[in-house]
Amino acid sequence: MATLLVTGGAGFIGSNFVLDWLRRHHGDRIVNVDKLTYAGNRRSLAAVEGQPRHVFSQTDICDRAALDALLATHRPQAVVHFAAESHVDRSIADPGAFIQTNVVGTFTLLEAARAYWGRLNAADADHFRFLHVSTDEVFGSLGADDPPFSESTPYQPNSPYSASKAASDHLVRSYHHTYGLPVLTTHCSNNYGPYHFPEKLIPLMITRALAGKPLPVYGDGLNVRDWLYVGDHCTAIRTVLARGRVGETYNIGGWNEKSNLDVVHTLCDLLDALRPKASGSYRQQITFVTDRPGHDRRYAIDARKLERELGWRPAETFETGLRKTVQWYLDNPGWVKDVTSGEYRNWMARQYAAA
Ligand code: NAD
Ligand code: TYD
Repeated sequence: MATLLVTGGAGFIGSNFVLDWLRRHHGDRIVNVDKLTYAGNRRSLAAVEGQPRHVFSQTDICDRAALDALLATHRPQAVVHFAAESHVDRSIADPGAFIQTNVVGTFTLLEAARAYWGRLNAADADHFRFLHVSTDEVFGSLGADDPPFSESTPYQPNSPYSASKAASDHLVRSYHHTYGLPVLTTHCSNNYGPYHFPEKLIPLMITRALAGKPLPVYGDGLNVRDWLYVGDHCTAIRTVLARGRVGETYNIGGWNEKSNLDVVHTLCDLLDALRPKASGSYRQQITFVTDRPGHDRRYAIDARKLERELGWRPAETFETGLRKTVQWYLDNPGWVKDVTSGEYRNWMARQYAAA
């Protein structure tokens, strides 16, 4: 039986990863360490709540003593680090929390992991892994004709969010180089799928469309993102954890470059088919709003290293993944209602006052 310590396992990707792992590995146990910020929702974990294989701890990754105690008690074979402040618009409005969690929190977790790993016997120390989940945003913004980001693309973070993630990547790298900690780092593109907090583009558009609200597209709507279905991302992380070469970085992408306007049009068309309005199309709710400051124009991931070395490729196309996602939101209005709390409503009022 293996034990994994997962941080941020009540967030979007983390909860998908925890549910997926426990579904596939019946003998394993996950220690889920999450501060439960506005983005963390235990309701996403309802399927495993109360099972002894899922140990939930409401803990801040900046709390060194609590991390030491969790590691000593549960003796995990790996740490999978998702916890972060993750929303670019919030990092523009209030960057402090991003430095605290993404930089100081990752540093604190690395220190706790280093101390724990240093006390393991040689065989256990050899097998231990620290997998750091990063983002393609650390590489900056691409022009229309630039090749996609590879693992050797230089760092050029443009937002406080991506700068804080870049800083955490450098710390992770240095803990391998300096102390020999067996780390792995992944850079994924924009994820989408179930349990995605409705402040991000895809769930925001679905929930606002259904509520009859304007669909706020920033700028000209022609910024491009490379969309990755969250289930494919979880498979990639499991693959890297099992067979990735220690100290290496791996890009994870969906080979799905789309402009924001394309994404919103496709969502509206899916909703028109699955939940038609009394009259007209959801497209009529689209509205163009003031652009995000410093808005990165294009992200695209070259995921060939992961395919070549470890044989991973995404299973979903954008069409199949998006259809599943829209259907999930239609089937789970209770989850949406639960997570769109007072704090969410305050953010919406501040961010979209003009929409
Ligand atoms: P999310 O915002 O949905 O979830 C983050 C989780 O971390 C929440 O449960 C929150 O409560 C928890 N958390 C925040 N601060 C914490 C702290 N100080 N201590 C403990 N827990 C804390 O994020 P997500 O979209 O699931 O992203 C997970 C990881 O993947 C992040 O590291 C993010 O940078 C990275 N990533 C995400 C995407 C994406 O498209 N969502 C793309 C690339 C990379
Ligand atoms: P987002 O989901 O915030 O992810 P990221 O900024 O990390 O890529 O945004 C995805 C794209 O959608 C990005 O180009 C900004 C754009 N966007 C809008 O046009 N309107 C919105 O209300 C939001 C939240 C995002």
